[in-house]
Amino acid sequence: MSAALTDRGGRRVTLRAVDDDNWRAIADIAPRDDQRDFVAALAARYLLLSMRGGVWTSLGVLADETVVGHVMWAYDEDDEAYWIGGVVIDASEQGKGVGRQAMLALIQLLSERPNCREIRLSYSPRNTGAAKLYEALGFAPTGEVEDDEIVVRLLVE
Ligand SMILES: CC(C)(COP(=O)(O)OP(=O)(O)OC[C@H]1O[C@@H](n2cnc3c(N)ncnc32)[C@H](O)[C@@H]1OP(=O)(O)O)[C@@H](O)C(=O)NCCC(=O)NCCS
Repeated sequence: MSAALTDRGGRRVTLRAVDDDNWRAIADIAPRDDQRDFVAALAARYLLLSMRGGVWTSLGVLADETVVGHVMWAYDEDDEAYWIGGVVIDASEQGKGVGRQAMLALIQLLSERPNCREIRLSYSPRNTGAAKLYEALGFAPTGEVEDDEIVVRLLVE
């Protein structure tokens, strides 16, 4: 079993399915105002995309029992890769180590799924915080650009 993922304050960081109890708190997750060029103004947008599209699966990020963020994932049959999107840690919870632990938890979850050989995501080249995080986690550029965003991938053994 892998070790528990904790933020810098010692809170346990986990991913949880959206349910009747937590969906409101997940929907209310919001980035800082200056980050709205990079992600939606509210995670509610991503929750609706997951519900309507049938492509993405949203998950709540919890620190102990507090909802602190949103992530989502999908499998793309065209490039045979899992994709991560909608990564938002609430403005009030950023810089505490939650984002890194949430990404580690999601990579672990996806790597246990069938046919997971590669995990992809994309980010704006101006989003230096996200770029540093993804690079530190081992994501490397594929050379592709989608909607002006740099596509990176992590190979999974
Ligand atoms: C990017 C984001 C998910 C990181 O979450 P977080 O909980 O703040 O990140 P952590 O505290 O776990 O920090 C992890 C790493 O991210 C990087 N990072 C995060 N914010 C940063 C900032 N403002 N400037 C520089 N680096 C930053 C650092 O490399 C940091 O590593 P360190 O702990 O060694 O300094 C969060 O800032 C966020 O939600 N941003 C707005 C939405 C967004 O841009 N999502 C990504 C879209 S692709």
